[in-house]
Amino acid sequence: MYNIRKLTPQLYWIGGNDRRLALFENVYPIPQGVSYNAYLSIGEETVLFDTVDHAVSGIFFDNLAHLLNGRKLDYIIVNHMEPDHCATLADAVLRYPDAKIICNAKTVAMIKQFFSFDIDSRAQIVKEGDTLTIGGHTYAFVMAPMVHWPEAMVTFDTTDGILFSADAFGTFGAISGSIYAKDVDFENRHLDEARRYYTNIVGKYGPQVAALLKKAGGLDIKMVCPLHGWVLDGEQIGWFVDKYQKWASYTPEEKGVLIVYGSVYGGTENAAEILAGMLAEKGITNVAVYDASATHVSYLLSEAFKYSHLVFAASTYNAGIFTPVENLLTDLAAHSMQNRTVGLIQNGSWAPMSGKLMGEAVSKMKNMTVLEPVVTLRSTVSEQTVTELAALADAIAASMN
Ligand code: FEO
Repeated sequence: MYNIRKLTPQLYWIGGNDRRLALFENVYPIPQGVSYNAYLSIGEETVLFDTVDHAVSGIFFDNLAHLLNGRKLDYIIVNHMEPDHCATLADAVLRYPDAKIICNAKTVAMIKQFFSFDIDSRAQIVKEGDTLTIGGHTYAFVMAPMVHWPEAMVTFDTTDGILFSADAFGTFGAISGSIYAKDVDFENRHLDEARRYYTNIVGKYGPQVAALLKKAGGLDIKMVCPLHGWVLDGEQIGWFVDKYQKWASYTPEEKGVLIVYGSVYGGTENAAEILAGMLAEKGITNVAVYDASATHVSYLLSEAFKYSHLVFAASTYNAGIFTPVENLLTDLAAHSMQNRTVGLIQNGSWAPMSGKLMGEAVSKMKNMTVLEPVVTLRSTVSEQTVTELAALADAIAASMN
């Protein structure tokens, strides 16, 4: 029995799931696992769209051989050279030595960096706008630089309206049976992980993602086949494109407040909780509170892309910002966070500095509005702190309206 999904009479999903990996790219926790998707078209000629990570190579090659059923593999289209998709490319070449590799010039250079097999004799190089007709399908190639590496491209099957979108429209999370997003209550069950995937992996490259969306907007897309997660068709495509347009333009998805605190002995934590309660009493109920010491920064970055208002609360530590919040601010800047309204809460038992430093960090991001007052605690929440928190809650409420 083979874990294969038939998507059209000619096209099959032949990817695999990894539920054992702790950290994707050795940095992002993936408690729901991840899928590595590859696709095989079997027509007059056989075409493989990308390969997979080492973790699922065994099942992948079994599935590939099963579907080929003794036929040779004619083409491998390499849309993205990152090893989570191409770790098994050299092995594929060994098994199917006659396969031509369709890719762009940048991909050839990367293949040479990762592998020692002879790519020059196998490469069929394509560039923006080129088309190839293979096995009765005409494929158009669209370059997608920095979505997520410089060599990335997407391939559009103009015959069936299928976009092989590489990392774009991918999602963290292993596929549990159903391959189509429409069948798995995607918005409720997987949107958070889709956002965390997007924001952490390509969040920095909003303009490049927007450029790809613009080019894709001119295509009559009926199905999207990404390299991670679920296949999109029907209304799911427009719904997900709308999310991408928001994320790529750093537009908040929701009016709401993300409060992230870094607290050593609980004083800063208490201030954050009090502020959340004050906001609720003003009718602002879309509030999420996180302890930066207890939540991986990839989740905090993702939440920051979601909400319109961000409040950072941090102790002063070594005359700087308590490190979990400092780490978040560094990560937000690295991912080009912009267009948000910000509140700041600082704590310092003898020399509060974190407010000034957080303000400086935020000021380096584009179009960020820092609200007054910057709330100050001296160790614990005092009556003066409560007064300042109430003023900050008022300012947040006013800015929302
Ligand atoms: Fe899923 Fe950029 O690789």
